[in-house]
Amino acid sequence: MQNVTRLCHTKSILTVNGQFPGPRIVTREGDRVVVRVNNHVDNNVSLHWHGVRQLQSGWADGPSYVTQCPIQRGQSYVYNFTIVGQIGTLWWHAHISWLRATLHGPILILPKRHVPYPFPKPYKDVPVMFGEWFNANTEAIIKQALQTGAAPNVSDAYTINGLPGPLYNCSAKDTFKLSVKPGKTYLLRLINAALNDELFFTIPDHTLTVVDVDAVYVKPFDTDTLLITPGQTYNVLLKTKPNYPNATFLMAARPYVTGVATFDNSTTTGILEYQRPNSSKVHIKDLPLFKPTLPPLNDTSFAINFTTKLRSLANAQFPANVPQTIDKRFFFTVGIGTLPCPKNQTCQGPNGTKFAGSINNVSFILPSTALLQAHYFGQSNGVYTTDFPSNPPIPFNYTGAPPNNTLVISGTKVVVLPFNTNVELVMQGTSIFGGESHPLHLHGHNFYLVGQGIGNFDPYKDPSNFNLVDPIERNTAGVPSGGWVAIRFQANNPGVWFMHCHLEIHTSWGLKMAWIVLDGKLPNQKLPPPPSDLPKC
Ligand code: C2O
Repeated sequence: MQNVTRLCHTKSILTVNGQFPGPRIVTREGDRVVVRVNNHVDNNVSLHWHGVRQLQSGWADGPSYVTQCPIQRGQSYVYNFTIVGQIGTLWWHAHISWLRATLHGPILILPKRHVPYPFPKPYKDVPVMFGEWFNANTEAIIKQALQTGAAPNVSDAYTINGLPGPLYNCSAKDTFKLSVKPGKTYLLRLINAALNDELFFTIPDHTLTVVDVDAVYVKPFDTDTLLITPGQTYNVLLKTKPNYPNATFLMAARPYVTGVATFDNSTTTGILEYQRPNSSKVHIKDLPLFKPTLPPLNDTSFAINFTTKLRSLANAQFPANVPQTIDKRFFFTVGIGTLPCPKNQTCQGPNGTKFAGSINNVSFILPSTALLQAHYFGQSNGVYTTDFPSNPPIPFNYTGAPPNNTLVISGTKVVVLPFNTNVELVMQGTSIFGGESHPLHLHGHNFYLVGQGIGNFDPYKDPSNFNLVDPIERNTAGVPSGGWVAIRFQANNPGVWFMHCHLEIHTSWGLKMAWIVLDGKLPNQKLPPPPSDLPKC
């Protein structure tokens, strides 16, 4: 626990090793990472290594009640996993309730020693982690929202590396400063750790070259603005100006919002300044400040244009192994619906109901023991069922006028996949409450984003436009507001793998499900037994 003051409010927050944002983990591809987590607080906690493939190390993935029971006060658990074939930036965060609001930090994955990047070697690495600051206690906020069924209170600020910047009251001194030298290339490692908001980001009068996304190299492309959803990471090269400019630059991030709910529409800023030699007569403080321009808050065409520019590097050294033949096709609707208000209670969701998130009309309930243990020990009875629907129970015009009945069902249902199944999954956004973009995150696998579009997916026309050559490979993809995405992945990692919207409130409302990938026949295709310190529920 740590007292932290932002926007004139002091509150006590949970931290790892007293740091906020948390400590960075610096690794190389091929390294084994061992992290011992000792829980000294009253909250149950587990940590997730977001985007790490966890090949045959599913016990170390971390989502509470999915791959493990949470670590209780006074207990510890050792996460032990190897980084295989991933280079770039990932991150770690708590994976229970809303604790990830303050429990998060970067994972930097460098290439193996003496292996170069497929782009000019950067002069310096700079993690840039976006977050969301709440003056109130976030556990109280989500508890109240789940009780009343209403949307939760919104945040009070966005942050860059924990600092809101000068556009908020009382926070001028809490400003992230990036001091650079002219004529150098900096590698910015952007991570969106905000709870509930996708963010636009820009540095005025500078170009950003995207080179790596979710720890996978991409074909480099230049942009002055990025869109980053919670869960995503972007490695971008920032080439500084050849000479000292007579200005400083205000970098900024603010949300991309679809849907109708109220949201925090504030802007976090940081300062890019050129650090002059001591002998210089110029004072940085006297220089004019270049202001940013960002797209409108609901700029969906920017979102679509930006994501269609992303392409895998897909060369001989870093091939795109897109599954070309498909064993199993799924069509999932993702969106917001309602659950009935429990008897003897009044609810503040739409028409006296409770908000619910759902996939194919199922609002997922976490069990009180971990799915992976139940699966591994053959004790699924009473924990989960394997009848998660492959298609929507009742087809409707997903992006048209909302259906009369917005009710969903709740349950703990999973999909079981034999080892090495090639999966194609179309995720269709629904516009029941206005239509919202949903950043869907898959654990334990990367997927290829082979197609996307606005409106309803057309199973006859749209697949012919799929990119099976160099689609972006990643672990989190935004299902566009009022549109769809198609992804492909090979289920080659035995275990139980969570898939959920990375907007935390949607996850809390049940917009989540799990895949069980069965063992293969060969010894190296099986999930090993659990470590002896695996926490108990
Ligand atoms: Cu970054 Cu399941 O999450």
